[in-house]
Amino acid sequence: MRDLTSDTITEAVIAAMQDTKDARTAKILESLVRHAHSFVREVGLTEQEWAQGVDFLTRTGQKCTPTRQEFILLSDVLGITMLVDALNNQRSAEATQNSVLGPFFRDDRPHHPDAADISEGLPGTPMFFEGQVVDHAGAPVAGASVDVWHSDAEGHYDMDVPGLVDPAMRGLFRTDESGHFSFRSIRPASYPIPGDGPVGEYMSATGRSLMRPAHVHLLIDAPGFQRVTSMLFPSTDEYLDADPVFGVKQSLVAAFDSYEAGDGPHSGLTDEAYTVLRRTFVLEPSPAG
Ligand SMILES: [Fe+2]
Repeated sequence: MRDLTSDTITEAVIAAMQDTKDARTAKILESLVRHAHSFVREVGLTEQEWAQGVDFLTRTGQKCTPTRQEFILLSDVLGITMLVDALNNQRSAEATQNSVLGPFFRDDRPHHPDAADISEGLPGTPMFFEGQVVDHAGAPVAGASVDVWHSDAEGHYDMDVPGLVDPAMRGLFRTDESGHFSFRSIRPASYPIPGDGPVGEYMSATGRSLMRPAHVHLLIDAPGFQRVTSMLFPSTDEYLDADPVFGVKQSLVAAFDSYEAGDGPHSGLTDEAYTVLRRTFVLEPSPAG
């Protein structure tokens, strides 16, 4: 293994890994080395560009904190998150499709009873959400856990709302015997992904917009079914076709019905204009179940 050249170094690196014990690890690392070397050859990477790349990845790691995950964001904007999801979660057309989990899920969220108001009094257009979880045959799935989380009317999640200490606009629900769950909150707004780190530099260099369409995140789990990590987007949002994390699927675009004060199904619960989102979620059986 001496006097290696640009023609022989790839095979030499792969040969150096020949004692890798786990077969899957060996396959992944060999492919990674082949693709990385091909990339360097294809673009004729200069020393300065390589140093720039190392600096970018170093700063991406340094930007990460317990509440900020710049590497996941990088994966999201490069389409890798949705590619991995697409390869691993191929579902029938009628099943609810996945989207990105995103960085704002918290597992220390409150548990809520049905119909709870999770807005914690934050200002915004009241939103009433009525969901049902069913299986392929349309039979209700009782006892499913349903996590919801979303931004406020300014596009901020609770941890970024100034002065807010307790969790808001998030929580865990359980479906009842008929598979239903419901809650009251405020209508979320479009928001930019964080642009003050290396990912922001990449977005700016490539002329891409940081704005995500508004959405409500959902994570649905029930024994015997595949977990659904999804979100719903209002059909009127102006950013549906430019989502920086490539998470929009047509089946996840939903009507957010608007009602005037004193009108419609929830007029007794609010003296303002409001919106209602109704949705049925169809679970796919898990491969083992
Ligand atoms: Fe989000």
